[in-house]
Amino acid sequence: MALNILRRMRATHTDTTGPAGIGGLPRAADGEVLLAADGLTKSYAGADGELPVLAGIDLDIRAGEIVALLGKSGSGKSTLLRCLAGLIPASSGAVTYRGKRLTGANPGTAMVFQTFALLPWLTVQQNVELGLEARGVAPAARAEAAVQAIDLIGLDGFESAYPKELSGGMRQRVGFARALVVEPDVLMMDEPFSALDVLTAENLRGELMELWESGQFPTRAVVLVTHNIEEAVLMADRIVVLGSRPGTIRETFEVGLDRPRDRQSAAFEDLIDRVYRTMTGRAKESRIPGRTEAVETEKRTAANTPLPTASVDGLSGLAELVAHRGGRFDLPDLADDLGLEIDDVLPLVDALELLGLATVSEDDLLLTERGTTFAGADVQQSKKIFAEAAQDVPLVRLITTSLRQNPEGSLRAGFFRDLLAHHYTSEQVAQQLETATDWGRYAELYSFDADPQEYRLDESAEQPGA
Ligand SMILES: Nc1ncnc2c1ncn2[C@@H]1O[C@H](COP(=O)(O)OP(=O)(O)O)[C@@H](O)[C@H]1O
Ligand SMILES: [Mg+2]
Repeated sequence: MALNILRRMRATHTDTTGPAGIGGLPRAADGEVLLAADGLTKSYAGADGELPVLAGIDLDIRAGEIVALLGKSGSGKSTLLRCLAGLIPASSGAVTYRGKRLTGANPGTAMVFQTFALLPWLTVQQNVELGLEARGVAPAARAEAAVQAIDLIGLDGFESAYPKELSGGMRQRVGFARALVVEPDVLMMDEPFSALDVLTAENLRGELMELWESGQFPTRAVVLVTHNIEEAVLMADRIVVLGSRPGTIRETFEVGLDRPRDRQSAAFEDLIDRVYRTMTGRAKESRIPGRTEAVETEKRTAANTPLPTASVDGLSGLAELVAHRGGRFDLPDLADDLGLEIDDVLPLVDALELLGLATVSEDDLLLTERGTTFAGADVQQSKKIFAEAAQDVPLVRLITTSLRQNPEGSLRAGFFRDLLAHHYTSEQVAQQLETATDWGRYAELYSFDADPQEYRLDESAEQPGA
């Protein structure tokens, strides 16, 4: 499939000097800074003032390179990408494109979205032309450019199809064609393969890399947002790892491996391991309030210790798996064995750590004594151990003690939502309460009625220490 497209592309694109760039700007030489963030900070409005998402990001995107922005879910990757594209303004600091400070949409970028973002009532051809229409290109030129982009990305034959007639892979090709048709200096991609099945994603990645390597990709740089480490190592020249709350650049890796990249090579695997360690590890610069693992147990509060999105079933499953491996599991291997991505595993790892059921050292996950007992216990015993552990988790403790102090033993969820709103976005508050509900129910500390949104103390938990 990939080679077919290359051949077709060579037949239709004979001009090897490449595009002149949007607005007739000269083609940037390799290494020239196209896009830069200087001290970029972004906050969103919370119920109680501004909630920082990005803090002091300095980043250059140069012609000739693919840069991957890698980070856990919620670390601010999409926010950073949107700021670079000028779709949302920075709170402070600046974004510049070719040396000019942005004040609105970046004229040098085009975006590919995870969810494709196609208009269902338009054909493939019309969807692709959309990007040019917005830039005021005349109809005839639009049609011609769209046909070329459609050809380049392997969509010829599908011009008059509607999105609903297409497979996921073909839909995302429309997303690519629509972005490439404007020949942006910098192509921005926000998890473009995440919504596709494994094989489709693999095929599309391969085709894009072949196009890029052929030197005829109609764009000078790529910024790829991903939470998939292997994807980053496979595609990028540089990997920028973001830490969370607020998002800062934790570490930058120069990839420096020859293309096409050999996944079996020792250098490839070694880099994956190093990036994993940065993402799972407790980097010194991340020792700020808000990083669960950075706060000493006795100083933990619901404000500085967010609950990870992890169900009791999920974290118990992980504990059992590690127990079967003798109480120790290499995290990169673990994700690999399970066919999972880092985003799936890390919240469970954070949860086990927070509950004192496991610790992380280097890239190994180690069960504690309590964790080992928990993994081997029957349901009743496991509930008991879990209840003990959960009492030390700030949000669970907050809910339990608040309920004990209330004469009726019940409180509206809104009460806790308001308390948390001082420190988290509403989305984060909702996620944390969902976890706290699951954990508290399993521990039989409290129950929750969805209607009327009320927490109620469990009888067995009415006496402290019971
Ligand atoms: N429009 C918004 N309003 C308020 N909070 C937001 C908004 N967009 C994102 N956030 C919050 O900012 C944080 C970073 O989000 P995002 O940039 O989407 O991260 P990522 O792409 O790395 O998953 C998250 O906690 C998210 O809840
Ligand atoms: Mg995102």
